[in-house]
Amino acid sequence: MKIVIVGPGALGLLFYSLLRTGGNEVYLVDKDRQRAEFISCNGINFITVSGKVKRIKHVNITTDPEDIPLPELIILTVKSYHTNSALKKIHPLLKENSYILSVQNGLSHVEVMSKYVAPDKILLGITNQGATRVDVNTVRHAGRGDTIIGTYLWDNFFRSHKFLRKLKTSFDKSGINTEIHRDIQSVIWSKLVINVGINALTAITGYKNGRLVENPALREIIHILVEEALAVVNLKKIKLLYPDPQKKVEEVCQQTAENISSMLQDILNNRRTEIDAINGAVIKEGRKLGLNLPYNSCVYKIVKGLEKNIGSRIFRL
Ligand code: PAF
Repeated sequence: MKIVIVGPGALGLLFYSLLRTGGNEVYLVDKDRQRAEFISCNGINFITVSGKVKRIKHVNITTDPEDIPLPELIILTVKSYHTNSALKKIHPLLKENSYILSVQNGLSHVEVMSKYVAPDKILLGITNQGATRVDVNTVRHAGRGDTIIGTYLWDNFFRSHKFLRKLKTSFDKSGINTEIHRDIQSVIWSKLVINVGINALTAITGYKNGRLVENPALREIIHILVEEALAVVNLKKIKLLYPDPQKKVEEVCQQTAENISSMLQDILNNRRTEIDAINGAVIKEGRKLGLNLPYNSCVYKIVKGLEKNIGSRIFRL
C-alpha cells in the first residue's frame, strides 16, 4: 500500500519502520525541517522487540506534502493537541480522497478530524504497540499489542469494509496485528479507560508501567481513577471490549511492564502531555452528565502543574 504517516514521534517512527519492512511504500511528513533533514541524512534506527537494531537507510521524509504521490491511506500519529495544525499542513493530500486513520490517544482528535476530512473517509483506531523514542531517529519497539480499526461513521462500516480488509492484510503482514471492529466508540473508550488508569500516574511518579501495579497504594489509585471513568462509560451506555476493566488495566501494566508510558516520555522530554485528551476528556464528558471525578481532577491538575515547569526540571530521559 502507498501510505503517508504524519508525525515522526515514537509511534510514527515505529509504524514507518514496520510498514516499510512489510513491503509498503511509506512516506513520512514532518513539520520540523531540521528534524526531517536529520532523519533523511541519517535514516532510522529501529530496535526490534528482541533488541536487534535494524538500520533503515533511505527514509522518504518531507515537510512538504506536495512532494508526495497520492496515498491510499494517511495515518495520523501526532499528539492529539497537534491534530489541527497537522491536518492544516497536509491539506493538499486531503483533497485526494484518501482514507485517513488516526491511532492517537484520547478523544479530542475525533472532533477536530471531522472539520477537515469527509466523514466517510475517517477511520479511527487504537494501538497497544509499545513505542519508545530513544533519540530523534531511534525508536524501540517496546512490546507488541493489538491494533483495532473501524470507521468513524457507524453506517459507513460496510461500505468501507473492503478497504478495512486490505488495510488489515497490509498491517498484519508488517507485524502490526490488526482487528476490525464495527463499534469504534467502544474501541476508543476501551483504550481511554486504560490510559486514564496508567498514564498520569506514571507521569507523576516517574515509574515504568509495571511498577504501578507492584505498589499497593498506587494500585488503589489506579482502581479509583478507572472506577470514575467507568461511571461515565456506564451513563453513556458504552460497552467496553473487556468484561473486567480493572483487571484489564492491571494486565496492560504487566504486559507493558518495561514501557515508559507516552505521558512519562513527554514529561521526561519536557514536552506538553496528552492529559487534556485523556483524563481531561473524561472529566469533561463526566461534567456533561453531572458527574464529578475528584481523583481524575486531582491527577489532571498535578500533570498540568508538571507541564508548567517544562524546561526547568532537573531530570531528563
Ligand atoms: O500511552 C501509552 O504509553 C500506551 O497507550 C500504554 C498502553 C499506556 C502503554 O504504555
